[in-house]
Amino acid sequence: MINISRAAGFVLAAFVFSAGGSAQNVVLRTDASALVLDAKKGKKLKHVYYGGPLADADIASLHAAQGKGRNAYPDYGMLTAPESAIAARHADGDMTLDLRVDSVFDQTIDGATVKTVRLRDNVYPFTVDVNYHLYPDDDIIETWTTVSHNENGDVDLTRFASSYLPVRSSDGWLLSFYGNHCNEAREECRAIPRGMTVIKNRDGVRNTHYAHPEVMISLDGKPRENDGRVIGAALEYTGNYKLRLDYENDNVYHFFAGINEDDSPYTLSAGEILATPRVAYTYSSQGLGGASRNYHSWARKHKIANAHRERKILLNSWEGVYFDINEEGMKGMMEDIAAMGGELFVMDDGWFGVEYPRNDDKQGLGDWKVNPRKLPHGIKGLLSTAKKNKIGFGIWIEPEMVNERSELAMAHPDWIWKSPNRERTYGRGGQQMNLDMANPQVQDFVFNVVDTLLTNYPDIDYIKWDANNAGRSHGSQYLAADRQNHVYIDYHKGLENVLRRIRAKYPDVTIQACAGGGGRVNYGLLPYFDEFWTSDNTDALQRVFLQWGTSYFYPAIAMACHVSSAKTPHTQRVLPPKFRCDVAMSGRMGLEMQPKNMTDFEKKVCRQAIADYKIIRPVVQHGDLYRLLSPYDDRGAASLMYVAPAKERAVFYWYKLRSFSHDNLPRVPMAGLDADRTYRVTELNRIDTKPLSFEGKTFSGRFLMDNGLEMPAENRVDGQDREEYSSRVLLLQAID
Ligand code: DGJ
Repeated sequence: MINISRAAGFVLAAFVFSAGGSAQNVVLRTDASALVLDAKKGKKLKHVYYGGPLADADIASLHAAQGKGRNAYPDYGMLTAPESAIAARHADGDMTLDLRVDSVFDQTIDGATVKTVRLRDNVYPFTVDVNYHLYPDDDIIETWTTVSHNENGDVDLTRFASSYLPVRSSDGWLLSFYGNHCNEAREECRAIPRGMTVIKNRDGVRNTHYAHPEVMISLDGKPRENDGRVIGAALEYTGNYKLRLDYENDNVYHFFAGINEDDSPYTLSAGEILATPRVAYTYSSQGLGGASRNYHSWARKHKIANAHRERKILLNSWEGVYFDINEEGMKGMMEDIAAMGGELFVMDDGWFGVEYPRNDDKQGLGDWKVNPRKLPHGIKGLLSTAKKNKIGFGIWIEPEMVNERSELAMAHPDWIWKSPNRERTYGRGGQQMNLDMANPQVQDFVFNVVDTLLTNYPDIDYIKWDANNAGRSHGSQYLAADRQNHVYIDYHKGLENVLRRIRAKYPDVTIQACAGGGGRVNYGLLPYFDEFWTSDNTDALQRVFLQWGTSYFYPAIAMACHVSSAKTPHTQRVLPPKFRCDVAMSGRMGLEMQPKNMTDFEKKVCRQAIADYKIIRPVVQHGDLYRLLSPYDDRGAASLMYVAPAKERAVFYWYKLRSFSHDNLPRVPMAGLDADRTYRVTELNRIDTKPLSFEGKTFSGRFLMDNGLEMPAENRVDGQDREEYSSRVLLLQAID
């Protein structure tokens, strides 16, 4: 065994060895997975294996078992037929790459040990580092590349995927997510067709309204929730992306993920380093549920700001008053949420703009000064009302954006994202534009929006950071003529610079990523944010689907779920208060309505739900998710549960999604409990006059997981049955 690892005590148990003189394996192990590469110096880097854990005997014989190795990072030019991960035009115009293994070493990046395989072109001074960061407990392997060269002039990268993974299966299925504003994260599951499947984004600014940069690939046919081999892939990037899955005739699904290079070839100067975004892979033999739990646990430990602390229950002003912000109104909302047991109030859009007051979406963006006509006592006055009511205070901003009618646009026309030679283009309200985040002056401005607010008002507890515009035309007034192709990439580099500065100075403030609802739900952005606004659609029925789709990759602690008014603004559907609360209680619970318009019954239900949510909050926000009955299965109901890590507590949710007479609804076996423990069942957020037949009764975990509990199809209050949209939340507590 030749250990050529440079870092002593590489805790990830990665090692390099020689077997029979024919191979030099880089073995990357997590607790329940392994990735093996063949890295012979001077040869192509080969992918040998990605799957479940390997014994040393398996590793020694692996090459014999695996058949032909595949290039682990296919390059374009010398073998042009297969799809490639990287393609370049060299300084002299040559279009070929031939990357060979140069070295394998450990390095420290951002405080973590990273295994790097360095590839060098065998003719040109062109280098690609393929990097691996392991998270053993969560079975996550992150991989990405760093590209550099030392040629006599610029090199154009026309393709520069972060990662390539060959997946061997003869019955591969793909779970992916598509949607729209107000309909994000719709799940789509299909057998992978021959040819190329492409999932991509070209918005420029937001990247999860229409498709999502995450997929799960099942190796064993249609994926199942609790068993079967699944590989998950999440591209950690908030800009334009492209995932490609190429499947021809070789029973290998060729997966590529990275920045979308369409309209964005990257011109790399000599000595410059391009680091591509990371892809986080997981492997699970416990189906989609196992893969999701890996991502959730990893995200809570490494990828979501402040995930160790529980999230507050809040009221956000948007759907309650929209732009109609005024001091009396805000005061009333603060009193109302405090009286219901809430812990935080967030003032949304409409509070700013002096010359150009923000009364609608047509003006004022960019002018982050309090409108004194709306708020005569300013933010200070609001903070003191919040304090009196013993709740926190939060505020909405959209700092990357500007309206045509704003002091900012007049003062800094050169800061606007547009082609230097063309007219401005507008988005929201026919007036909204993006600031050019590639410009360091703009980055300073955006940083200062937050810095000024938090310096002047250190008691601000929460920021809702919105972004409601696509990058509508190609161009930057800041970038040089020969770097206009960088506009989409440099926008996000600029954004990340700002976010890094904000987090360095304000690590504790809670920040929500919002982008016209769920337009920025991705692991590229989340490390700087505590949570995301899942969707502008607060219709609880559609939320069951939306939150379900989002849950494959994102944990409940990050998923903002708000109770809407009875008639939900986007769909105009009227839903009972218990159903609305029960759905919001499965994520980070909040309210999104005008409490003044609530009936006494609605207030009572919400007050009860808030109190009960406080009991289950640790389990929801830090427990393990088990999806039990999918709304996509169209069986009339949906069900999920969270189980505390030590399995002493769990919360079970059941939602009736349609109301057909004598419908045959399934009984749902539970999951994730300790079979040998006994659990007491208590209904939460109860509105029924009579308790459930199993209220207070005890059952073994085994029984609950084999059999489940029969849910009555209706909620019954004072002899009145409500069959439509009935729902239940049950707390299970181990009594031993
Ligand atoms: C879009 C967001 O998704 C909404 O929640 C709200 O903040 C509006 N923007 C405000 O303009």
